[in-house]
Amino acid sequence: MKLSDRTKLIKPAVTLAIAAKAQKLSAQGVDLINFSAGEPDFDTPERIKQAAIGALKKGMTKYTEVRGIEPLREAIAEKYRREFGLNYDKDEVLVSCGAKHALYNVFQALLDNADEVIIPSPYWVSYSDMVLLAGGVPKIVATREENGFRITSDQLKDALTPRTRAFVLNSPCNPTGAAYSKGDLEALASILEGHNCLIISDDIYEKIVYDGFRFENLVTANPSLRDRTVIFNGVSKTYAMTGWRIGYALGPAPAISAAAKIQSQSTSNPTSIAQAAALEAIRGSQDEVETMVAQFRRRRDVIVKRLNSIPGLTCFNPQGAFYVFPNIRPLLGKKANGKKLESACDLADYLLEEARVAGVPGEDFGSKENIRFTYAASLEDVERGCERIKKAIEKIG
Ligand SMILES: Cc1ncc(COP(=O)(O)O)c(C=O)c1O
Repeated sequence: MKLSDRTKLIKPAVTLAIAAKAQKLSAQGVDLINFSAGEPDFDTPERIKQAAIGALKKGMTKYTEVRGIEPLREAIAEKYRREFGLNYDKDEVLVSCGAKHALYNVFQALLDNADEVIIPSPYWVSYSDMVLLAGGVPKIVATREENGFRITSDQLKDALTPRTRAFVLNSPCNPTGAAYSKGDLEALASILEGHNCLIISDDIYEKIVYDGFRFENLVTANPSLRDRTVIFNGVSKTYAMTGWRIGYALGPAPAISAAAKIQSQSTSNPTSIAQAAALEAIRGSQDEVETMVAQFRRRRDVIVKRLNSIPGLTCFNPQGAFYVFPNIRPLLGKKANGKKLESACDLADYLLEEARVAGVPGEDFGSKENIRFTYAASLEDVERGCERIKKAIEKIG
């Protein structure tokens, strides 16, 4: 069958493909340690489930406003007022089927053919494909591990051209866990002040930060950028709600209205009862978030220490999110089970076969020398997984 040229531009999300492979192995009874998923292992808090059940019982089962119900958009605006002193009207908020969908809609709404979008790498797998689908050109800027995987203001300055339409910043970052301090953001903002591009601020891991790190974004660091920034966030990671599919965009009304128009011709509103659940998540007590983050931090401490003790691996200590992205360069070119390891993909395959540990190779995040492990797994599994990785790597000759 002839497929559209558009579909040939992109590839399926690798993270989801690996998670599916891992799930299949587990279903076959293989004792697999799954460090590949991009989601918290915790259950959605009970109060949030009850809000959805309540909405269902009350008959909240019909279409809602395309942009999402007003109380939810108001609660999102209120969160930004309360937490950051940023003022957004409810008409400057779009609720979509996950932050992924909000990003997709906004790229579709704002990009024209050949518009360049600067994406620091390593990056979340979907940005470049979404840009391509909107006719844009991803301009990948490789950050350096010794700079904490953060783009520097000189790198940003060099990457900006008259064709630059947007700059994407994801902090804390998937896959590196790197986060930008207020000072880092002010330095980038001073470069952005001199160029009129849009800013895409993906704040989905905002609440998952460690060691007293204070989350900021480019708008909180430099409010003069507010009117050309779209902020993305959602309930998936913060409240262990990945399956509910609620995320959102906040930004200037023309951008939000255009993205809502795209949404109106594709999915319409996100699921009504999931919106009721998201409203409870954002408005209610935030105690569970603290509990989850405290557990993530303990696991991070263990996984970073254990991976750094394995010869051939070096592991950057992330300030946020729930991923580590160890460097595997010294292992490349060596032999594992008689096969030369040419890439992170080869190592990920070897670890799946030999150690029964699933990780995601760095290639699809823009790095051939790293592999991503998610530590959204019990402390016991984190320990067991590290032990298995160690034994398998020790066999590499
Ligand atoms: C950096 C980043 N942005 C956005 C998303 C999308 O999240 P969701 O669509 O579940 O809200 C993800 C999910 O993995 C992510 O890692």
